[in-house]
Amino acid sequence: MSNESINWDKLGFDYIKTDKRYLSYFRNGEWDKGTLTEDNQLHISEGSTALHYGQQCFEGMKAYRCKDGSINLFRPDQNALRMQRSCDRLLMPQVPTEQFIDACKQVVKANERFIPPYGKGALYLRPFVIGVGDNIGVRTAPEFIFSIFAIPVGSYFKGGMTPHKFLISDYDRAAPQGTGAAKVGGNYAASLQPGYKAKQAGFADCIYLDPLTHTKIEEVGSANFFGITANNEFITPKSASVLPGITRLSLMELAQSRLGLKVIEGDVLINNLDRFVEAGACGTAAVITPIGGIQYGDKLHVFYSESEVGPVTQKLYNELTGIQSGDIEGPAGWVVKVA
Ligand SMILES: Cc1ncc(COP(=O)(O)O)c(C=O)c1O
Repeated sequence: MSNESINWDKLGFDYIKTDKRYLSYFRNGEWDKGTLTEDNQLHISEGSTALHYGQQCFEGMKAYRCKDGSINLFRPDQNALRMQRSCDRLLMPQVPTEQFIDACKQVVKANERFIPPYGKGALYLRPFVIGVGDNIGVRTAPEFIFSIFAIPVGSYFKGGMTPHKFLISDYDRAAPQGTGAAKVGGNYAASLQPGYKAKQAGFADCIYLDPLTHTKIEEVGSANFFGITANNEFITPKSASVLPGITRLSLMELAQSRLGLKVIEGDVLINNLDRFVEAGACGTAAVITPIGGIQYGDKLHVFYSESEVGPVTQKLYNELTGIQSGDIEGPAGWVVKVA
């Protein structure tokens, strides 16, 4: 696909084959130094553990075009660390942080023509590790692949920074002591049916409650939840089955240091939503998506407004996206320049 055929104003979140992807193999106890390849097909053994036992993990991150033409990665060290934790959880070899960040830079540079212009979206990077090689028993794979591909993206939720409605799901995406905190495919396989049902019913996505008691909000589809109270508190769920999002982590820091909010990681009881004057979903893909309403049983709980963005949510959005695109100075180390 040529980038001339991309309408930068209409970018959604769809696969586009870009020029090059990074590929590294783990054999005989070590990762090779990796190569860039044009081939977007993987040729792997039919016995690969990734295919049968879900031995795989992935990451999601973005590269942004700045006003001056330079390119920013946002906290890639945090994605490297999270992928290392996911690899540990599924008994896969960690990719060293240095190799991870170097591979990200290589992929961004090799696909530079696909980075959306300043303010029009971002180049989404999808790093992943999969267990491969001939195998049949339930055990860790003999070999692994670490790869990163890139696609230009715009809004994940249609309409972007406008309030969206979400449906509380009866299903769980993860178990109390399971793999919820790891970014592994099994969690997302479990989320396909509930997500599909929510969208069929006219919602942007579903919200998961805690898998043990079904009384507390955990995650908003593939994004984290935050709520703002009238007492200037930023509250986000604390749970071992929630994915520790890097956007969430960043907003917790910005809410406190730049907006002067009190940051609380704690329980978000589904029966006590009245305490929030605003609510939002946050993640690399979702950025900040205001939550206009939550449907729980036959009741729709409306937050700030079903059509307008709340002022605190807007300030958080401006601060976060300003740092990512280089318009606002971020905390030390958050932005890594490519090239
Ligand atoms: C289940 C889930 N929760 C939360 C997030 C947000 O994480 P991050 O901000 O690191 O993108 C994601 C997206 O990666 C996700 O898939």
